[in-house]
Amino acid sequence: MRVARTTIQAVVIGLGCWLGLAGAWAEAAEVVVYSARSSQYGPEAAFDAFTKKTGIQVKTFGGNSSELFERLKAEGDKTPADVLVTVDAGNLWNAARAGLLSRVDSPEIQANIPANLRDPDNRWVGLTVRARTIMYNTKKVKPEELSTYEALGDPKWKGRLCLRTSSYIYNQSFIATMIKRNGEPKTEAVVKAWAANEPILINGDTKILEAIAAGQCDVGLTNTYYLARILAKDPSFPVAPFSAKQQTTGTQVNVSGAGVTAHAKNRANAIKLIEFLSSPEAQQMFADGNFEYPANPQASANPILVTWGKFKQDDINIAAAGELQAAATRLADRAGYK
Ligand SMILES: [Fe+2]
Repeated sequence: MRVARTTIQAVVIGLGCWLGLAGAWAEAAEVVVYSARSSQYGPEAAFDAFTKKTGIQVKTFGGNSSELFERLKAEGDKTPADVLVTVDAGNLWNAARAGLLSRVDSPEIQANIPANLRDPDNRWVGLTVRARTIMYNTKKVKPEELSTYEALGDPKWKGRLCLRTSSYIYNQSFIATMIKRNGEPKTEAVVKAWAANEPILINGDTKILEAIAAGQCDVGLTNTYYLARILAKDPSFPVAPFSAKQQTTGTQVNVSGAGVTAHAKNRANAIKLIEFLSSPEAQQMFADGNFEYPANPQASANPILVTWGKFKQDDINIAAAGELQAAATRLADRAGYK
């Protein structure tokens, strides 16, 4: 009898411990983030502020976009990741399409971030805005000579244009959103005209800016934060941005953003983190970390970006970057843009 009672006590104590542990596990004050943002220019400051505010620890694992995509896919429901942070709407769209992200219906996120910067099905949200626009050598080109992306196909830029290859996702997304905006025939004509100008193909936005500064080419197409990074160290760098298409549909933008994974163990914390990252307070930190524009219009941009002035952004839904990625690749091939 005594033995039986001891056994029952042990079972009860054991069960109690197990329930306690399970409870603690379910409420683990952490959130695990797979982040394709480099820590040098990434959202770490905003993560720290989140931990300070909520007590929830943010554990990050880095890697490039495709590495993290493959890792999430391979881990399936065993993944420790609660949140995926990555660059380019094309990558976010691909992750959602592969079933790696889950729908989050948060009124807070929807109020903070404009609809064109979010997945129409709420599986990801843009958190920083990157403008991809014309860059020019300030000693060789007058801004009056510039106007639109299309006009870079004018023969006057023959041999004077630097571009990245068409296979790079920034340009795939760029062409994809152009297709969404203008249709395939018009976009193809534009890309053909660029190719006819025999652009110098350079592997890296920063390298393009350096080539423009060095006079290897006079104009190019890059994201603006690469220029801001350089100007923060060297204000006399002879390259300036020109906001394309201000008379019509506006300068093309893309995002870096985040989504809650399909198998998040800390889903509530994951949603809390993304809600925080979309708030004006965190937006300032997140965008400033890499000289990007905040996605939340209530947050203000870094002073270097402010000196460039306000500009009209194309407000097409950036999901187009993913939807039309394959079409963009085929179009670039047809147009002879390598
Ligand atoms: Fe980049």
